[in-house]
Amino acid sequence: MEVRPITSSLSSSNSSLSPEAGQEALHIWGRTPLKGHVTISGAKNSALVLMAGSLLCPQDCRLRNVPSLADVNRMEQILAALGVRIQRNGDALDINASDLGHSQAPYDLVSQLRASFFVIGPLLARLGVARVPLPGGCAIGARPVDLHVRGLQAMGADVQIDHGMVHAYVTGPSRRLKGARIYLDYPSVGATETLMMAATLADGETILENAAQEPEVVDLANFCRAMGARIRGAGTNTITIAGVPSLHTTDYSIIPDRIEAGTFLVAGAITHSDISLSPIIPDHLTAVIAKLKEIGSQVIVEAPNRIRLIGGQTLRATDIETLPYPGFPTDMQAQFMSLLTLAEGDSVITETVFENRLRHVAELNRMGADIRVKGTHAIIRGVPMLSGAPVVATDLRASAALVVAGLAAEGKTVIQGLNHLDRGYEHLEVKLQKLGARLQRVPMDASEVVVSPSTALETL
Ligand code: UD1
Repeated sequence: MEVRPITSSLSSSNSSLSPEAGQEALHIWGRTPLKGHVTISGAKNSALVLMAGSLLCPQDCRLRNVPSLADVNRMEQILAALGVRIQRNGDALDINASDLGHSQAPYDLVSQLRASFFVIGPLLARLGVARVPLPGGCAIGARPVDLHVRGLQAMGADVQIDHGMVHAYVTGPSRRLKGARIYLDYPSVGATETLMMAATLADGETILENAAQEPEVVDLANFCRAMGARIRGAGTNTITIAGVPSLHTTDYSIIPDRIEAGTFLVAGAITHSDISLSPIIPDHLTAVIAKLKEIGSQVIVEAPNRIRLIGGQTLRATDIETLPYPGFPTDMQAQFMSLLTLAEGDSVITETVFENRLRHVAELNRMGADIRVKGTHAIIRGVPMLSGAPVVATDLRASAALVVAGLAAEGKTVIQGLNHLDRGYEHLEVKLQKLGARLQRVPMDASEVVVSPSTALETL
């Protein structure tokens, strides 16, 4: 597959933030085998986009299986700022956007959560106008939004970008977007989701070609269909949306988090453990399971929603290239890198989705790994042992990779930058402790804080 260089003028960069005093660190004492069962939470990336999708509905919507995460809290704040009533009841979110009054998303919140840019699609579809700040780049890359913008323009929106703000509006008496045939230069998850949401209420039919096929895109399509949208083809590279006049109330449960599940599978493999996970959807983990098997684990699908991993005693080297779904997920790249540091032989990991997503290499090398970076390739020479060290998480999945490495390392690993971890893993320590891992969150005082150049706020 051809991978597009990411060079749009619509991107900008966030400034780096260092960890601050008063933060917590995660202390991990490694080399304890894990045993038992893990309950997997609802998918973060589905939750965020379905929350945006609920703006399409002028009636009550209930989302279930919503994980309790920093990113979800931020998205709740963004919806509230748009005039939405939102209330959490356990793992359910009750959302009512009948009084959706504001078309402008607040910069300070959007800048902390890239996925919140996706509200531009439903806002434009419901109100005919949307003002959303450019989300900016983040720790893993520039991350432009040109595909979102070009797609909305193809559907008849006027879009101007001024002082970092995207102003989009639809002219004409109906203020409705028009169906269009849109070819995405790259199967961007976010652009597919933005345009699918926008098209649900457009006049006529929209066809998205070279669309993203990720399970979260399918979850969004199913949610929109439960509200009365007419969408076919989600999960393939061509999605057809026939616009309808309005959507209605629904009660919808979010899919399990395939990346959280994958992270636990890697934790099991690196500690040579026997663990099971549920609920999961095995088909969502096909590429991850194939690589785990190649590396030497047994993976058994015990029931339609339950999987067991029996880690092999030795780990075998392999090569991995990240790709859009159903290829190997970029969100699992860092965790597999930790695993391959202890494999027998040399492995090569190639990151093709994001341009700056190998920053965990330096931290893994501090733990005794032997990894060299050449462009988008990481060459990993397997070592017999990792040793615990103080390390700093640089982004969400990098922080998961350090946890996984810490579980396998000799001695104590101290991980800073837990704000990243808390964005995407619900109750991670509690779940790992239940499996027998020895780890603890400990408050840090100012003298302990390591200032790293690589701790930019990441907004994946
Ligand atoms: C989503 C996920 C993220 C995952 C990623 C790829 C959410 C909230 N986040 O991010 O966890 O790692 O998919 O699976 O769902 N691009 C452009 N122009 C655009 C849009 C994207 O050039 O308009 C580029 C990006 O910079 C990146 C690549 O396309 O290099 C993939 O990005 P995309 O699929 O859009 O990822 P997100 O939706 O941001």
